[in-house]
Amino acid sequence: MKLDVLFSPVQADELFFTGKTTVVIDVLRASCTVITALTNGAKEVVPVGTVEFAVKVSGGIFGGQTLLGGERNTKKIEGFALGNSPSEYTKEIVSGKSIVFYSTNGSRAIVKAKYSANLFICSFNNLKALAKHLKKLNEDVIILCSGNNNFFSLEDSVCAGMLLNELTAGNKKGELTDSSISAIALFKAFGKNIFKMLSEADHGRLLINNGFEEDLKTCAELDSKDVIPFYAGNTLKVLK
Ligand code: MLT
Repeated sequence: MKLDVLFSPVQADELFFTGKTTVVIDVLRASCTVITALTNGAKEVVPVGTVEFAVKVSGGIFGGQTLLGGERNTKKIEGFALGNSPSEYTKEIVSGKSIVFYSTNGSRAIVKAKYSANLFICSFNNLKALAKHLKKLNEDVIILCSGNNNFFSLEDSVCAGMLLNELTAGNKKGELTDSSISAIALFKAFGKNIFKMLSEADHGRLLINNGFEEDLKTCAELDSKDVIPFYAGNTLKVLK
């Protein structure tokens, strides 16, 4: 089982992912929002690469059961029903709905990896559940960190390291690349207090400045959910 990490989506193009097993991570906040929406009964989340495409897709192909969600510069987009705070995606609001979802880094990373044979979404919230599934699957894994505007992000890299640490615990067969070894080192250095690490990271500080500190607490919850979002037919659904 070869385990590799891309610290930013710019490290590879779409075709790189063809046939691979890919895990997309956007700790702040897209991964957590998608996991929360599906946990609360959303029928599916449709990740899109542009706001314009989100508006186009929401125009009727899902039979009027669509909600537009996501953010630009951390804020809700004009005309969208929902922003990118997990707390907005309650049962009352999302149950049975298709959420067309755009976010600056997360949804775009998912769309980039769309040719993967298996594509899963990971955050600290569902890390153990996903690790368990990946161990069972026993395929090589590419972890794609959504990063921060194409640059490195500490929180995604630490989460990648924690997932790798979980996958290799007691498993000598895990073959680690240089980037995987580095991610594990980052997890060991910064993973003891997840909320503190999030609060000190570039994007965490921006979110706090914009009034989203509560979201950091939700995103920092370790193994609070067992839902694994799985991408198939252009949408993310709960892996059964
Ligand atoms: C993203 O996809 O870039 C993030 O989820 C941004 C955010 O925190 O809203």
